[in-house]
Amino acid sequence: MVATGMPKIRTFRKVARSDRLRASPKAGTLPPSMRIDILSAVPRLLDSWFGESILQRAQQKGLVEVVVHDLREWSTDKHRRIDDYPFGGGAGMVMTIEPIHRAITHLKSERDYAEVIYLSPDGQLLDQPLANQLSIKGNLILLCGHYKGVDERVREHLVDREVSIGNYVLTGGELAAAVLCDTIIRIIPGVIGDETSALSDSFQDGLVAPPTYTRPADHQGWKVPDVLLSGHQAKVDEWRHQQAVERTRQRRPGLLSGEE
Ligand code: 6GU
Repeated sequence: MVATGMPKIRTFRKVARSDRLRASPKAGTLPPSMRIDILSAVPRLLDSWFGESILQRAQQKGLVEVVVHDLREWSTDKHRRIDDYPFGGGAGMVMTIEPIHRAITHLKSERDYAEVIYLSPDGQLLDQPLANQLSIKGNLILLCGHYKGVDERVREHLVDREVSIGNYVLTGGELAAAVLCDTIIRIIPGVIGDETSALSDSFQDGLVAPPTYTRPADHQGWKVPDVLLSGHQAKVDEWRHQQAVERTRQRRPGLLSGEE
């Protein structure tokens, strides 16, 4: 379950992390476990997200644990403030370094973290290779920005990587953190039902997905391509690959030319 506030002490199974994209869990071996701690000024925004659906099941299976923390818990201000006016003037408030530093120091004293990631519109653009890479890194701390962002010293001294989810501006980093977690968690083997399906997604092989169909084979004259009903798997695979290449050429040519 998701907890807000000060983290409880939990125990973890220590397992070697193999490359999740190549490894599939064998009977009798422990699945890799990963912990993601999210630091937020508005933790309630994230509670419902991680309390639902596939992400909750992943947590119940012990494949991942997501813990959302309220940054105000680390404020020493009597009003629990975590922001202040910018030096030099200007519009908007800036998140202060002290609560963020205390939170990160506290978490790091409890376990190892591979990276502290700040969600920021000017960060590295999230794509599938980055999600794959992060899913096998180990424990992560995600810091959600708000207001006019964080004191620059946080970025300089406390953060290992900055990630953006696209070229548009959100009101805060929480949605971006949820998106990042979703992309990371869903490719952990065992999280989604069909082991192979996360790996056959759009983008995993640099192509968009081919069209898919289900029953009825004929809906008011709109027919499913014959090849899919042929029972000839090699032909089906070949057709799907051709469709994926053709769709990528038409819709996302940048994926083929390496420009995106
Ligand atoms: Cl990570 N944060 C905010 N505030 N806006 C964004 C973003 C992040 N990624 C795209 N837009």
